[in-house]
Amino acid sequence: MCGIIGYTGPRKATEVLLSGLSRLEYRGYDSAGIAVIKGKKLQVTRKQGKLSVLIEELKHSPVGGHTGIGHTRWATHGAPNDTNAHPHTNHEKGITVVHNGIIENYSDLKKELIKKGYVFLSETDTEVIAHLIADNYDGDLLKAVRDTLRELEGSFAIAVMRREEEGRVVGARRDSPLIAGIGKGERFLASDVPAILEYTKEIIYLDNDEIINITPQGHSVHDKNGSPLKKKISRITWDITQAEKGGYKHFMLKEIFEQPDILRRLISKRVRKGRIFFEELSISPKDLAKIKDIAIVACGTAYHAGMVGKYILEKEVKVPAWVDQASEFRYRDPVIGKDTLVIVISQSGETADTLAGLREAKKKGATVLAVCNVLGSTIAREADGIIYTLAGPEIAVASTKAYTAQIATLFLFTYYLAAIKKVKGHNEKNFINEIKKIPEKAESFLNAYHTKKNVLGAYAAEFHNYYLSRNNKSCFLYLARNINYPNALEGALKLKEVSYISAEGYPAGEMKHGPIALIDENPWVVCIAVRAATYDKMISNIREIKARGGIVMTVMTEGDELAKDKSINYVIEVPDVREELSPLLVVLPLQLLAYYVAREFGYDIDKPRNLAKSVTVE
Ligand code: AGP
Repeated sequence: MCGIIGYTGPRKATEVLLSGLSRLEYRGYDSAGIAVIKGKKLQVTRKQGKLSVLIEELKHSPVGGHTGIGHTRWATHGAPNDTNAHPHTNHEKGITVVHNGIIENYSDLKKELIKKGYVFLSETDTEVIAHLIADNYDGDLLKAVRDTLRELEGSFAIAVMRREEEGRVVGARRDSPLIAGIGKGERFLASDVPAILEYTKEIIYLDNDEIINITPQGHSVHDKNGSPLKKKISRITWDITQAEKGGYKHFMLKEIFEQPDILRRLISKRVRKGRIFFEELSISPKDLAKIKDIAIVACGTAYHAGMVGKYILEKEVKVPAWVDQASEFRYRDPVIGKDTLVIVISQSGETADTLAGLREAKKKGATVLAVCNVLGSTIAREADGIIYTLAGPEIAVASTKAYTAQIATLFLFTYYLAAIKKVKGHNEKNFINEIKKIPEKAESFLNAYHTKKNVLGAYAAEFHNYYLSRNNKSCFLYLARNINYPNALEGALKLKEVSYISAEGYPAGEMKHGPIALIDENPWVVCIAVRAATYDKMISNIREIKARGGIVMTVMTEGDELAKDKSINYVIEVPDVREELSPLLVVLPLQLLAYYVAREFGYDIDKPRNLAKSVTVE
């Protein structure tokens, strides 16, 4: 997954491109490059490594001009190096391209182009696009791009320039995001809004196989047959500071602390006069009332949110609900049909596996509801109905605020659906009263555990010393039951992602079926033992682990007598809350623990190795 940007207008293109790429680095950061046109001269600068390497290079050899394109890369074809970095260019016709996506038929196309005499310098699929546009070019750049798109299979968001046409950039997309920014006497193209928000809040979201032509004077959009299209201009409501770190050292910490406000905003937007509703949801109550079963499909953290959703949907709506990783769902020929509601959950709305799961579900006649965070994303637009999680831009690769926003949204949707299906005994009013208390409880926990007394920071430092004292050997086990079991998986994923420490989440009842063999003084075992129907079972698990010399860290309800039990190595207390809603609080210490452990190891917390914010490839 990569980030692309394009600009034409009165500003210095290099400045706009580099500023935009710095806000797209979360999409991939193993190499970067820009191309700028000045007086029919094409100046291309590309460097392996993070954007800072390119910036350094451009300091030594600055590039002038007011029309340009740029790219920050997460390698899919070809190792990260200068040659494979974008933009890619056909020098004979002066066609240069940046691309986010995967061209699945690139090797066949490449063979054809080589036969025609084109010389390839890189291993990328993107270079095929540059030569193909050149091959199709006969005086009309828009037509050449249109003809090229017809030959491409796979996903792309591209920005294209031609050396002789200073002041013009052409963009197009299929299954990878691309937006256009509308400024006064200037135009922008970008993969995502933060890249251009400091310049304009007027945005056009392009749909699949649409082509946009931008010049400083204006823009035009056409469909794949060349017919002109009238596109709506949306106004972005959040500002660039929200996409900045807001004074925190890392986006991850900022986004952890944003959660109370996001939950407050989300609940107040979804609950009016004691009733729940979703203004953007275009699936009618009549259609929802017919639903007989529910499949939840997602990846990673979104999958864990879906697992929480399963518990509450079955409990309150009384229909079967199950959860699949999208990468499995898409290939297992699922037994679903017109009475199935498939809920696809995706923060980015661009995850390839989840998008494929959506398409599989639609092919089988199911109704698809997307729960997404990014407005206008591909998944949001292809679903039958959309509910946005309203979490604002999530920049850190490790998802935190999107997770709690997904869970809260699933809770709200559950009670919305239970009301539509007139489920006996469901109590929307009581639920609304309870969920409204969550933001304040979350805020009080976060303040207690970070601002005033950084208990979790101290625990993380102790783990770090312990780990070093055992020649870098230790790991984590997360145990929980019932509606908090997904949090055990999420806590383990967070730790793995940002600190590279091995960690596993398990349903605590499974310990006796094997995992307890792991217990000696090595793994740190996080046990989620908040007030719940299975509390006593969790206490037994804790005793079993302590009896075998294990190190135990418990997440428990404030005031629990167990907190005074000296045999428990580390105690974390969260505010008391109704069991069903406890996942929204329990995950907070797990997020902070992961963050602080990673900080002890000094890793790049917002951009962990090997990861990208949204995995738009298989
Ligand atoms: C979460 O911390 C990870 N970065 C990853 O598991 C992520 O949740 C997953 O790739 C799904 O992304 P999406 O929500 O954008 O579809």
